[in-house]
Amino acid sequence: MAKNHLLILLVLAASLAASSATITKSDSSATPTVYELLAKYNFPPGILPEGVQNYTIAADGSFGVTLPGECEIDVAGFTLLYDSEIQGSIQSMLISGLNGVSVNLGINRVAISSVERDGDRLKFHAGLISKSFPVSSFAMSPRCKPGAGFAK
Ligand SMILES: *[C@@H]1O[C@H](CO)[C@@H](O)[C@H](O)[C@H]1NC(C)=O
Repeated sequence: MAKNHLLILLVLAASLAASSATITKSDSSATPTVYELLAKYNFPPGILPEGVQNYTIAADGSFGVTLPGECEIDVAGFTLLYDSEIQGSIQSMLISGLNGVSVNLGINRVAISSVERDGDRLKFHAGLISKSFPVSSFAMSPRCKPGAGFAK
């Protein structure tokens, strides 16, 4: 009889331990912001301007980002232009097939096709040009320039 009681106690203790483990599991079900998502792929938040409205990302890494309107920002001495809809594909250290971001080179806009992380630098590829900047230049999401004539 005493043996049976001991067994019941053991089973109880085991099930209590199991249920407390379930309770302490943290709630990670909240949808991450697009900026948190970038961090997951080792990209700084500042490669996207502030105010992203919504985004989608598929299991294969293809994504879409919607901004409130077209946006112009100055970064590391360059002017980047963002369409209100941006698409591409993201994986750790690499954003490729980018559509909707270009760099203003004065006389013309050149589309940025990919962004690559290489150690503490980010390398932007635009046509035949590629240029790298320190990751720290993108620590903060810039605000779209006011009066650029793009805001909708
Ligand atoms: C964001 O929402 C707008 C309006 O509902 C929609 O048109 C757009 O396709 C959405 N963007 C993405 C990337 O899902």
